[in-house]
Amino acid sequence: MDWGMQNRLSRIINPKTNRCVMLAVDHGYFQGPTSGLERPGETVAPLLEYADALMLTRGVLRNTIDPGTTAPIVLRVSGGTSILKDDLSDEDISVSIEDAIRLNVAAIAISVFVGSVNEKRTLTNLSRLCDRGQKYGIPVLAVTAVGKEMARDARYLGLACRIAAELGAQVVKTYHCEDFAKVVNGCPVPVVIAGGKKIEERDALTLAYNAVSDGAVGVDMGRNIFQSRWPVAMIRSVRAIVQDGKSDAEAWEMAQSLMD
Ligand code: R5P
Repeated sequence: MDWGMQNRLSRIINPKTNRCVMLAVDHGYFQGPTSGLERPGETVAPLLEYADALMLTRGVLRNTIDPGTTAPIVLRVSGGTSILKDDLSDEDISVSIEDAIRLNVAAIAISVFVGSVNEKRTLTNLSRLCDRGQKYGIPVLAVTAVGKEMARDARYLGLACRIAAELGAQVVKTYHCEDFAKVVNGCPVPVVIAGGKKIEERDALTLAYNAVSDGAVGVDMGRNIFQSRWPVAMIRSVRAIVQDGKSDAEAWEMAQSLMD
């Protein structure tokens, strides 16, 4: 891996711990003003100091995030559909590599929809994006989006993660599942998990703990942080698990002490 690529990756995945807490606030790219993200700049402001990286779109970045921020940016560069469509897989690359460079991002992110009607297009989009990232030393985060008809099991997620890595992604984001260690084991690049829909705070901490225990390098978590009544307590407690090696029980104690 060349120096620039490695350096950018090191800004996201801490080389001392080989772990990463990424805060995901890109949901509006197909969901519109997602609950908790109506004013994304205000949502992320108190959370940024606890995040190793911030994942978002260029529109939200340009319009709501202070350019003085030191947070490494993981820029979502796929889109083209909305929740008004039944099938969300109809995505293309939505940002040029020049604009990603202009925004000084640490990585670029794209969804792939393995098993969907648009499987081939989203996978070749990933390949094209990896070529562009490779040219300029910008790592690609592949997001394994799961259609309604797909099972979120180790067989499916393992397949999707492995394909994303084979096509050139430097990091893969997926969902935790039973036998998740098999997914990680079959994927030659670092894996982070999405948090998914909002669940109880205690359960979200267990999810993060199980993911890293099963070999994930960390989380790319959104709703379970910013939709919580206690977003700062949540990101700090998730961080305690991912970066400080705390158990979910210890992190839950910490979370409770931080909840007002
Ligand atoms: C979904 O496509 C988006 O990329 C989100 O960034 C991702 O799902 C992580 O957010 P959450 O933890 O809310 O699932």
